[in-house]
Amino acid sequence: MEIVDHPREMQEVALAWRQQHQTISFVPTMGYFHEGHLSLMRYGRKQGDRLVVSLFVNPTQFGPGEDLDRYPRDPERDAALAREVGVDVLYTPTAAQMYPEGYQTYVTVEEVSRGLCGATRPGHFRGVATVVLKLFNQVLPHLAVFGEKDYQQLAVIKRMVSDLDMPVEVVGRPIVREADGLAMSSRNTYLNPKERRAALGLFKALTWAKDAAASGENQADKIVPEVIQTIKSAPHTRLDYAVLVDPDTLQSVDTVQGSARLAVAAWVGDTRLIDNMLLEVP
Ligand code: PAF
Repeated sequence: MEIVDHPREMQEVALAWRQQHQTISFVPTMGYFHEGHLSLMRYGRKQGDRLVVSLFVNPTQFGPGEDLDRYPRDPERDAALAREVGVDVLYTPTAAQMYPEGYQTYVTVEEVSRGLCGATRPGHFRGVATVVLKLFNQVLPHLAVFGEKDYQQLAVIKRMVSDLDMPVEVVGRPIVREADGLAMSSRNTYLNPKERRAALGLFKALTWAKDAAASGENQADKIVPEVIQTIKSAPHTRLDYAVLVDPDTLQSVDTVQGSARLAVAAWVGDTRLIDNMLLEVP
């Protein structure tokens, strides 16, 4: 595995591969790898001749007062794990290389970025879309793999790629969960033991809703209030949102027509967690 830390060098490596007609899979990350990241990498490994993983804690997607400074980092462990999965290039640019002095170009994906996390984290998806577009231009991937845990992020990136005619296939892969159901996230490391137990409220609410839909319940006004109640009743937990949305547009729906995504976010202690589940009504 090669570690590349300069955008120009990354582009040269990718261009050389493309000249040799090799396909490039790409997994963008902010590091501190867990099984969720590794599952995306294994998928990318199978799909392309070459696999690039980026590790960059992107400052433009963090708002003031958010956790940019304390975001967990362990680059050496990450490099060892990436090597085990068979990553060809671990791409580790710095903030100064990504956003040099005078930098002033940003991408806004308008509607899909607005609700859900976009409402609580203004500017977040502008930062995500901008960095992903830059990374795509540097890594030149044929295929890019994202986790479905950040469901809105996936929708924003798919919209951007479609709207800007970008020649890359974006694939979303299922959420990887801990044995008890908590969605894996680098931010889970912030939780103390009491909060870790309380965090299961999100999974409990989502699985209740999935079962209710599977039993034929298709009305948002029956499903969502129960989900809100379950999350709010977990200790140390403050609800941000619970919304049933169309899987593509992320517009809220009143009725589950076949399927819909239930997306939730809550603070457990000081840690903001997100999760979602596909509801299917037979
Ligand atoms: O999901 C993440 O880790 C980040 O938002 C991403 C896509 C790597 C952009 O910084």
